[in-house]
Amino acid sequence: MIEVSGLTKVFRGEKKSTFTALDHLSFTVEEGDIFGFLGPNGAGKTTTIQILATILPPTSGRIKMDGIPLERSPLAIKKRIGIMPENPGFYPHLTARENLVYHAQFYGIGQVKAARKADELLSFVGLEDAAERRPGVFSFGMRKRLALATALINDPKILLLDEPTVGLDPRGMHLIHEIVKNLQKQGITTFYSSHILPEVEVLCNRVAIINNGKLIVVDTIENLKETLGALGVRGVSIHCPPIDEKITDGLTQFGKIERTDRGIDIAFKEGSTRQNISSINKVLVENDIEVFAMVPKEPSLEEIFLKLTSKEATEPKTDADKEKVPTKDK
Ligand SMILES: Nc1ncnc2c1ncn2[C@@H]1O[C@H](COP(=O)(O)OP(=O)(O)OP(=O)(O)O)[C@@H](O)[C@H]1O
Ligand SMILES: [Mg+2]
Repeated sequence: MIEVSGLTKVFRGEKKSTFTALDHLSFTVEEGDIFGFLGPNGAGKTTTIQILATILPPTSGRIKMDGIPLERSPLAIKKRIGIMPENPGFYPHLTARENLVYHAQFYGIGQVKAARKADELLSFVGLEDAAERRPGVFSFGMRKRLALATALINDPKILLLDEPTVGLDPRGMHLIHEIVKNLQKQGITTFYSSHILPEVEVLCNRVAIINNGKLIVVDTIENLKETLGALGVRGVSIHCPPIDEKITDGLTQFGKIERTDRGIDIAFKEGSTRQNISSINKVLVENDIEVFAMVPKEPSLEEIFLKLTSKEATEPKTDADKEKVPTKDK
């Protein structure tokens, strides 16, 4: 549904300086995928989405959306996609419904159909009661949902969502996830950018990780989880009543113990596995400790990037820096 091959974007700055924001990205998104596009700040997520949305021209590379080459028919592509930008904007003097109806005009949708569609979408994103209110008075989460409704006004086949859940509380996040899953059932392909690994894990079936404009990995969630599993667990946070020193002494075999206001934290030794957690649980149960929760400390996204990019992480960021670094060819 989305085919990207060798996508490169070089921004030109002052005094002929250049910055390579995207460096030969290649990946494929299948029809009906919820494709996670994961990367830290500045990785190139928004740049990629803007190129896919035909807002920004690529420097080089080939893109096909729904089988159509992007450079040849950007208009045909515009009709097939819906984009929810990082910072959605609305017409402040129009109500939520009027915003949607106005937006529909850009797709040549007539007033009557647009009004019907607007009501349908407002209810789909749970904003039916706010239809007559202006987005200026909306909460942050409501604005996000209105932006999603706006992205759906032209019945797109492909949805491009740029960090749609950033800044939302767990409930708001869950709502967006449910909407996206619902859209998947209707056959819509979603390109979902995020820097939150756990949300991508629960929502997406395939994922690409990018860092510094380079593709680190593109894989199924199952395979990625296996990779993450191999990285081990950093430790565990145990929520329990205060524990006697005799018992914590027995736990030092697993790692460094630190008392917290919730119980204890254990920082595991290098290369520890999840098996540690059940062994610790066993010790606690045998000592009649009432455990409320055991929260594993997974490797952070940054650690995963470092692991997956140990070579790439040390590479220069700007093209000017690259010139300073001697390479084998020079
Ligand atoms: N118009 C521009 N001119 C120069 N550099 C740019 C421009 N737009 C983006 N960049 C640079 O390209 C890189 C990628 O930016 P981009 O906004 O795509 O990252 P991102 O992954 O969306 O980050 P975030 O998580 O912060 O939203 C950044 O280093 C950014 O400074
Ligand atoms: Mg961004």
